[in-house]
Amino acid sequence: MPETADVMGMSDLSEFEQVQILRDPVSGARAVVALHDTRMGPAFGGIRRWNYPDLSAATADVLRLARAMTYKCALAGLPAGGGKTVLLDDGHLDRRRAYEFVGDFVEQFGGRYFSGPDVGTTDADLRVVSARTRFSVDPDRDGFAGIADSTAQGVFEALVATVRVVGLEVAGAKVLVQGLGSVGMRLCGRLAAAGAVLLVADVDAERCAAARRDFDATPVAVDEVLTTACDVLAPCALGGLLSADAARVVACNAVCGAANNVLVDAAAGLELHRRQIPCAPDFVANAGGLIHGATLQLTGALPPEGRLGEIGATLTGLYEQSRALDLPPMEVAEREARRLLQAVPARPWLPARRGC
Ligand code: NAI
Repeated sequence: MPETADVMGMSDLSEFEQVQILRDPVSGARAVVALHDTRMGPAFGGIRRWNYPDLSAATADVLRLARAMTYKCALAGLPAGGGKTVLLDDGHLDRRRAYEFVGDFVEQFGGRYFSGPDVGTTDADLRVVSARTRFSVDPDRDGFAGIADSTAQGVFEALVATVRVVGLEVAGAKVLVQGLGSVGMRLCGRLAAAGAVLLVADVDAERCAAARRDFDATPVAVDEVLTTACDVLAPCALGGLLSADAARVVACNAVCGAANNVLVDAAAGLELHRRQIPCAPDFVANAGGLIHGATLQLTGALPPEGRLGEIGATLTGLYEQSRALDLPPMEVAEREARRLLQAVPARPWLPARRGC
């Protein structure tokens, strides 16, 4: 029985084109790489470095994340598919060597998989990866530095579409941004410029102070994010904010942010839907960075003006379907992604052969 068999049903595993469990013989570093679906084009997906309790947990995470990348590409209209790498870090990792090892492995795909940042992977790590492979986001290459800004712009477009569903405009809407990192802080800048009333929460008090100074934002305690009344809750920290219990009590009228996996499970989405709280599917709302990076990699140019605005239009369509079908937006988005995938030929993407 393969090591991953117990982490998902075999029927789920059979969706994946390739899943590999790796161990670097030099450093002992362990990684899991998953290519979910490359029928639409090469797989895109970052490297997550995390202290997983065991290999099963790491594998479950990489499968979930790689599939979400496929859905994200499909709904963003990109000729690309989904992949992901997780690097297990128990605190004793030889970090430089581990990223070199991952970079060498990514290179072996010959362009079928393109890696980049995710939780735990910094620009410094990406420089190590990029020194070993041509197929990674390189923070020093022209254009790639703007990825977080494109993510924030995409979330902003998604938020514009989301507030309209509850009969508001961004100007004057009370938006609570949880997490003031590279995306959250940029989102605050855009929201403030558009006239939103900002509430902010971050475990780092200095970031809250900066948002107060720069955007006239009102800080909220991190453990009061769910209970603070607002028009839109914008989760831009880590995932897992909304369980079904949290969805029963959350004091916002809508949810739209950058964080992946905000909903703990489908029950949380159902609960929000029951309460008529629209919740933007994360893989639609946060696709701006992917659109930026994948377009740059695939075409050599940045996305054209207005491309990120399509996120708002996609979301508006999903909300309409959600109402018509009486289903949570997340479920509608997943169905739509699967429908788009069914329409493509059942051939994985392979790099063009060189020479004769
Ligand atoms: P980041 O690491 O730069 O910022 C995260 C922020 O959240 C930090 O300021 C941190 O102090 C804060 N934080 C952590 N735990 C918190 C808590 N319990 N309460 C309040 N604040 C907390 O991350 P980044 O790049 O801004 O990403 C934010 C989210 O968006 C992540 O979930 C990421 O996976 C997702 N995302 C990011 C993309 C990007 O382009 N950077 C693309 C797509 C998704």
